[in-house]
Formats: sequence, structure tokens, C-alpha cells
Amino acid sequence: MRVTSVIRSLVLLLTLLASWFLMQTYFQHSWKAISLRSWLGATKKPSSERLPRHKCGNQKSCPQNYFAFKIISGAANVVGPSICFEDLVLMSSVKNNIGRGLNIALVNGTTGQLLKTDAFDMYSGDITKLQTFLQGIKRGTLVLTASYDDAATKMNDKVRAYFTELGSSHVGKLAFRDNWVFLGAKGLLNKSPFEKHIKNDGETNKYDGWPELLEMEGCAPRKMD
Ligand SMILES: *[C@@H]1O[C@H](CO)[C@@H](O)[C@H](O)[C@H]1NC(C)=O
Repeated sequence: MRVTSVIRSLVLLLTLLASWFLMQTYFQHSWKAISLRSWLGATKKPSSERLPRHKCGNQKSCPQNYFAFKIISGAANVVGPSICFEDLVLMSSVKNNIGRGLNIALVNGTTGQLLKTDAFDMYSGDITKLQTFLQGIKRGTLVLTASYDDAATKMNDKVRAYFTELGSSHVGKLAFRDNWVFLGAKGLLNKSPFEKHIKNDGETNKYDGWPELLEMEGCAPRKMD
């Protein structure tokens, strides 16, 4: 045999092997997807293979008598915050009901029904508007809060006291351009476990002048009485 024909045979063999390998991988893959979805309609993929979607896009689902929520603070003064509750977006840029400062949604803690949303300018706004809002919250109301840009310049002791009463541990330390997400309730006897706070700190800030955004998801217990 001549050298060129040996090489030619080798190349042919390698090509065949490569094709076989590629075809096999490809078919194994698409076979599974096609056969299980449409051909064998009755055969479902085992649940571990399916990607479950939970309320608000959360990592976990909530047990009965708990409400799923996700609160995302604003990012610097650019991207607005969002508040999701039981898979409903209560506040967001798209809904056009957010603003710089403090964004607050009130929900009936028994029924899960939305009562009210409002945004309060904490940099140059009228702080008495927020005081009146907080004063009017009835027992058994869930309070979902997200900061955007600056939530503290106009903050006063009265407002801090209201939030502390709703279960906040961090509102006392909230300062200029800190980020803060909080879920509390009127009538809580203990501190709320649902709170995150990040300081505006030139050394650690993610953005120029602002810390990184905060994201908090979880399951808030339904109030039963
Ligand atoms: C929640 O809804 C129930 C039933 O409609 C009502 O009785 C209760 O007063 C409401 N609570 C709040 C805090 O809105």
C-alpha cells in the first residue's frame, strides 16, 4: 500500500468516528427531550428534572398559611426597586408607582389583599406625609419597604420609632444612601426576621456613591386570629 492511501484510510476512519460520536451525543440528547415531551405524553419527566417555578420567582415555595414575597431595593439612583407579594408585583418601575426614597406597600396580613402603596421622597420631600401614613397603619397589616437612592436624609425619630414598632432592627442606623429592605407588621411582638441593610461606604460601595442593591425573599406567616 502506498503511504497516501494509508493516510486517506486513516482520515476516513477518524471522520467516521467523529461523526458517529457527534450523532450519538446529539440523538441521545434530543431523543430524550422529544420522546418524553410529545411522543410518550403519559410519561412525565421525574419531578427532580423539571424546573419548578415558585411565586415571585423565589428559590423555594412557601408552606400553607405563609405568603411568598420578594423585595428588591433600588440600584444607585438608576434602577428602581420592586416589591412582589404572592406572585403579584405590587410596586415597580413598570407599574410606575415607585419613587426615590422609601417605597411602601401595605397588605392585609390575614387575607393577603393589597391595601395601599406609596412612595415617599426622603431627600427633599414632606416627612409629615410619611408620618401620617405610618400612623394610620392598622394592627394585622404587613408592611413591605424598599429603599431607592436615598431613604434617610429626612428621616426623623418619629418615623424611626414607627418602623421599630413594626419590627425593624436597623432603621435606627439608616443613613444617607444606605440600602434597606424590610418586611414588618403592625402588632408584632418580636423583631422581624425579614430585614437587610447595607451601608453607603466609599470603601466598599459597588457603585460610585451607592452600595449594591439588596434582594430579600421569603415566606411571611399569615396572621390568624
Ligand atoms: C383584613 O381583612 C379582613 C377580612 O376582610 C378584615 O376583617 C380585617 O379588618 C382586615 N385587616 C386589615 C389590617 O386590613
